Amino acid sequence: MPELREYRPSDFEDLFQLDQRCFPEAIAYSRPELAHYLRAKAAICLLLCEGQELLGFILGDVTPRGSGHIVTLDVSPEARRTGLATSLIEALQDRFRALSCRAILLEVAVNNRPALAFYKKHGFSVLKTLRRYYPGGLDGLLMGKNIAGVNTKVTKF
Ligand SMILES: CC(C)(COP(=O)(O)OP(=O)(O)OC[C@H]1O[C@@H](n2cnc3c(N)ncnc32)[C@H](O)[C@@H]1OP(=O)(O)O)[C@@H](O)C(=O)NCCC(=O)NCCS
Repeated sequence: MPELREYRPSDFEDLFQLDQRCFPEAIAYSRPELAHYLRAKAAICLLLCEGQELLGFILGDVTPRGSGHIVTLDVSPEARRTGLATSLIEALQDRFRALSCRAILLEVAVNNRPALAFYKKHGFSVLKTLRRYYPGGLDGLLMGKNIAGVNTKVTKF
C-alpha cells in the first residue's frame, strides 16, 4: 500500500526525474522551474511512495484570489490506472477545502487525452482555451471545478 506524505527537500531530484518522464521535453519543468513552484509560500506538495520509490506526486498552490491551483500531477508510467492520481487529487482537494478554497483551477495541454479524461472524471470542466500557452505554440485548456457547494457554478475565482 503506497504511503501518502508531504514533500521533503531531499525528494527534489526524484520529483524532477519523474516529471521528466511524465511530460514531453518542451513541457516538463526544468530544475529551476520546479524549485520555484516548490518554494512558493502557498505550495502544497504530496507524494505517494512505496518504500524509497516515488510513484507519484501532486503539486498545488493557492492563487492570490484564494482558488486552489494544480501546478502538476505526475504518476509513474508503470503505476498508472491503479487509482494513484485519484488518491493524490482527493488529498489535495481536502487541503484546499481546509484552506477555504472555493474552486480548483489547472492548465492542461489540448492534446493530453489521459489527463483530460482524468480531470473530467473528477468533475472538472473546460473554462477556456489558452492560445499558444505551451512552448512550441501548443494550446492549453484552463479547467476548473467548484468545491464550495454541489450546486454552485464555476464562474468566479
Ligand atoms: C493523468 C495521470 C496523472 C493519471 O494518473 P493515474 O494514476 O493513471 O489515474 P487514475 O488511475 O487515478 O485514473 C482515474 C480515472 O481517470 C481516467 N483516466 C486516467 N488515465 C486515463 C487514460 N490514459 N485514458 C482514459 N482515461 C484515463 C479513467 O477514468 C480512470 O479510471 P479507470 O482507470 O477506472 O478507467 C497520468 O496519466 C500521468 O501522470 N500522466 C502524465 C502527466 C500528466 O499529464 N499529468 C496531468 C496534467 S497536469
